Amino acid sequence: MTTITVKASRAYEVKIAPGLLARAGELSAPLIQGRDAVIVSDSNVWPLYGQTVRDSLEQAGFRVDAFVFPAGESSKTPQTLVELLTFLARKGLTRSDALFALGGGVTGDMAGLAASLYLRGVPCVQLPTSLLAMVDSSVGGKTAVDLPEGKNLVGTFTQPHLVLCDTDALKTLSPAVEAEGWAEIIKYGMIRSRRLLDVLSANPAGSEIEWVIAHCLEIKRDVVASDERDNAVRQVLNFGHTIGHAIERCGGYSIYHGEGVAMGMAIMTRACVRMGLCPEECRTVLEDLLDRYHLPKTCGMKREDLLAAARADKKRRGETITLIQPEALGSCILNKTDFSRLDRVLEVGMDL
Ligand SMILES: NC(=O)c1ccc[n+]([C@@H]2O[C@H](COP(=O)([O-])OP(=O)(O)OC[C@H]3O[C@@H](n4cnc5c(N)ncnc54)[C@H](O)[C@@H]3O)[C@@H](O)[C@H]2O)c1
Ligand SMILES: [Zn+2]
Repeated sequence: MTTITVKASRAYEVKIAPGLLARAGELSAPLIQGRDAVIVSDSNVWPLYGQTVRDSLEQAGFRVDAFVFPAGESSKTPQTLVELLTFLARKGLTRSDALFALGGGVTGDMAGLAASLYLRGVPCVQLPTSLLAMVDSSVGGKTAVDLPEGKNLVGTFTQPHLVLCDTDALKTLSPAVEAEGWAEIIKYGMIRSRRLLDVLSANPAGSEIEWVIAHCLEIKRDVVASDERDNAVRQVLNFGHTIGHAIERCGGYSIYHGEGVAMGMAIMTRACVRMGLCPEECRTVLEDLLDRYHLPKTCGMKREDLLAAARADKKRRGETITLIQPEALGSCILNKTDFSRLDRVLEVGMDL
């Protein structure tokens, strides 16, 4: 088992190992005073892992209720959030009891938000079951639901009490959902870790998973620690995301987030290589890894549509935009610039 300590506004541990869902009760009981537990899960994950977590919590002395919602981003809404809050109130959950978020990023974001709002804050244990949720959303403290006007527009910064990443849960992921996690993992390598890129390149796809998850979380932890509220440094985590979000938006969200990020990273990296801003190996290593993990390297969308979509992004500040550019293998820099620069990146980088 690998344990990572995150020292945010409150310190907590992230544990990574096979079989952790069956130990959820034993590992979380010492951190929680009350003995009422509500498991929040979606309609795909609950039938797979709900009983395991329920049994584990009951063995540790918890009384367990479950709130299960229809799987998918379309459930990450204020409506579902209010249903969940109402459920907690009717169960009479107190501030010393706890929520257990069992599922992917949708479950983690929404349960985390409910836990930060109900009674002005109750403990939350995150049990991420998707690769993306393990390597990304479990560290950083962001919680959210979506509005029709945009994703993640309503949320808080709230740290969990404990995060348990059970690597056995990854076995039931669909290949497309798993690939999304790999896109973010490759991103961590590109922004901060040549060593991670080397490990991914040298081993068969999917191996060394416990080390890979832990290494990614250490990178995210260290970036976030320097910048807990998402201002400057943390933007490096958005490598591939400015263009990726624009691609997702143009595709009417029929494109997976991870696919958008993969295409965004590849377009930006090719542009930087072609403009002489980083060495050729950035492109070859990245494209090889994207191929290996069945991720796309470009999109067939129109440049002007992508630009318009990027302008509508909530992360935009005025007319300026921060582009995250590779400067060497395993290192990216922030370039605060304007939209004409993004136009040029698309022009130069979209062709394979
Ligand atoms: N808080 C953050 O910092 C942060 C970071 C990145 C992403 N996110 C959010 O995370 C969400 C995306 O995460 P996601 O891809 O995990 O979405 P998700 O929770 O919708 O999971 C994707 C799909 O996989 C299924 N699934 C999850 N685990 C499974 C398992 N072990 N076996 C079988 N099926 C499983 C889910 O039911 C769902 O259908 C988005 O809403 C995004 O905004 C948040
Ligand atoms: Zn992402």
